[in-house]
Amino acid sequence: MEAIDSVGVVGSGQMGSGIAQLAAFHGLNVWLVDIDPDALSRAAKSISNSIHRLISKGHLSPDVHTKALGRLHYTSNLEELSTVDIVIEAIVESEDVKKKLFIQLDKITKRSAILASNTSSISITRLASAVSRPRQVIGMHFMNPPPIMKLVEIIRGENTSDETFSKTKALAERFGKIVVCSQDYAGFIVNRILMPMINEAFFTLYTGVATKEDIDTGMKLGTNHPMGPLELADFIGLDVCLSIMRVLHVGLGDSKYAPCPLLVRYVDAGRLGKKRGIGVYDYSKPKKGRAK
Ligand code: NAI
Repeated sequence: MEAIDSVGVVGSGQMGSGIAQLAAFHGLNVWLVDIDPDALSRAAKSISNSIHRLISKGHLSPDVHTKALGRLHYTSNLEELSTVDIVIEAIVESEDVKKKLFIQLDKITKRSAILASNTSSISITRLASAVSRPRQVIGMHFMNPPPIMKLVEIIRGENTSDETFSKTKALAERFGKIVVCSQDYAGFIVNRILMPMINEAFFTLYTGVATKEDIDTGMKLGTNHPMGPLELADFIGLDVCLSIMRVLHVGLGDSKYAPCPLLVRYVDAGRLGKKRGIGVYDYSKPKKGRAK
């Protein structure tokens, strides 16, 4: 089995930049691609800040840092992925947009390359149906932030080969991650359980049961979660949460997954969470008033 030495990461937002950083630290040559040059600049800055934090905490030597940075390439040109061994897609959570990208990647990348998706909820089998190599398509779902969170959820589509699965699992383990495997059903394991909880927190706020601060503090201290569900939604991105709820609603066909109207309204208003400076909470203000 050919080893994986190089990776293309498409989408340089919160997840793509973290996955690229992780891969470079573990010795892979990385091409980070985004259609938006500003997103690439933000990714370079966030990777550099993250590395400096790790050095200042003594988790990383400056030497490792220099080598890792040298393995990272930033580009807006997808064609540069023609030689990579695997592509990990981390663009917007939209089936149509992801399928269009997979069709382009199918043409550009070498025949042996694996096409992995970091999708939170979308069917791997349907993404695979867009390309001529469905055996090499797989879900590789990192948690946020990828350099820190221990888990990678791996999802085999209907046609994913054993070789694709073994190589992807080995790569996740090389990154120091624990792997869990999920069948290809909407939301897989983690978001099937997490997102309805977040959606219910929005309903709790929407119906006036409690303030946002009390909902978050209640869940943090009452269930020993490190973050309250509304704070976590802001961290994930409210647009991402809404897209996942819609996939669960359509994919599992149960009205219990209908997105809360308040979540929809916030997304319509551009309140996308921490990445936009405002979501459930306003991050332009000091932390006072947010959950304890
Ligand atoms: P984000 O909004 O931070 O970043 C998405 C990036 O993709 C943007 O920079 C955008 O310019 C770029 N992009 C969009 N279309 C593109 C295209 N055709 N080609 C190249 N770049 C393109 O999104 P985020 O949060 O990083 O999520 C990305 C994916 O990861 C989604 O599928 C999401 O469901 C999944 N995910 C998100 C998690 C989270 O906590 N936010 C956790 C795990 C998975």
